[in-house]
Amino acid sequence: MENVASQHARVLSGMRPTGRLHLGHYHGVLKNWVELQHEYQCFFFVADWHALTTHYEDPSIIPDSVWDMVVDWLAAGVNPGEATLFIQSRVPEHAELHLLLSMLTPLGWLERAPSYKDQQEKLKEKDLATYGFLGYPLLQAADILIYRAGLVPVGEDQVAHVELTREIARRFNHMYGREPDFETRAEEAMKKMGKKNARLYANYRKAYQEQGDDDALAAARALLESQQNINLGDRDRLFGYLEGGSKVILPEPQALLTKVSKMPGLDGQKMSKSYGNTIPLNAKSDELEQQLRTMPTDPARVRRTDPGDPGKCPVWEFHEVYSDESVKTWVTEGCRSAGIGCIECKQPVIDAVLAELKPIQERAAEYENDPDLVRNIINEGCEKARDEARDTMEEVRHVMSLEYR
Ligand code: TRP
Ligand code: SF4
Repeated sequence: MENVASQHARVLSGMRPTGRLHLGHYHGVLKNWVELQHEYQCFFFVADWHALTTHYEDPSIIPDSVWDMVVDWLAAGVNPGEATLFIQSRVPEHAELHLLLSMLTPLGWLERAPSYKDQQEKLKEKDLATYGFLGYPLLQAADILIYRAGLVPVGEDQVAHVELTREIARRFNHMYGREPDFETRAEEAMKKMGKKNARLYANYRKAYQEQGDDDALAAARALLESQQNINLGDRDRLFGYLEGGSKVILPEPQALLTKVSKMPGLDGQKMSKSYGNTIPLNAKSDELEQQLRTMPTDPARVRRTDPGDPGKCPVWEFHEVYSDESVKTWVTEGCRSAGIGCIECKQPVIDAVLAELKPIQERAAEYENDPDLVRNIINEGCEKARDEARDTMEEVRHVMSLEYR
């Protein structure tokens, strides 16, 4: 049943523009986005304001990073025909929602966000005792809530931010979702769905409220999502009526935890720019081949005749990502018995990495040769995102009594 609700859910995720992407991003994030775009309505954005929270002293690298990153997304197979791609700062409504949410956000919620202390520790060379940095999880909450996204694909380190987003949404709905004649209006809204759907909704609501039936809640939400003939206000009322006595203006999103990427770097540690062990998506084939060929192996295999242990070898980590069972058996047996040499062992990995990068690089070249195309894709995405964001802000302003103009 869970699926019924999520089928209609909107997916939103953002990435900071930090330069060219590498295979770690591809396996950890982009492949997942590419799959999600077929199943959901997806919004993916370049979090350039987020980059400023840590790079405010030298923002000049951000613009190139923005365009490089978009090219890498497209090259990886993110399809602008299926997903909406945009840049955060081109939808200034994010900033307005951030400001309005800041009014009701207890300082403690931000001070307690794990990233606040962690990142300050990690990025010691930067002064992150700023207002913008403290508020960045709230900006993230605004990013998510402004699209009323249901699912937010993120890594482990971002789950706390989605949790914060939920708490903010709850607080907001509780404060501003109250209407004196809420029940009457909800009942009227129900009728507008038509007899059959109204009855379905009422039954699901009853099952949820009386028996705590979560499947019924999910089904009721899915039903509401699919309604064409009720307006946004009525839909929000009916979402709220399912669970309690206030309108749901900003629905609570759910984190969609991305499986931890096992992508190893060239030294066997996790692939990461800070370790200098990455394989960029635009790596040149001959250099990359050379790098993989000279990659460290089990240090115990000094001579070709010394047996080795794949468990102690970074190359094995690559086989885990790229090789099928028969190749893996060939490696473990050949390594432990010194039946194969390390160069031989690396060949299937080299072939697999190059084969994976080939179509990515071909697509990247197409977009790099046509910067206008990339600009147009983003322009269109920004327009579409902005329309959605404007709708939400209209309602937010309304419930916050900000309509005098
Ligand atoms: N904070 C995220 C990161 O550092 C990027 C991000 C910004 C994001 N806004 C978001 C991710 C909204 C998901 C949803 O990786
Ligand atoms: Fe590593 Fe393969 Fe050499 Fe064994 S044979 S040490 S797994 S590269």
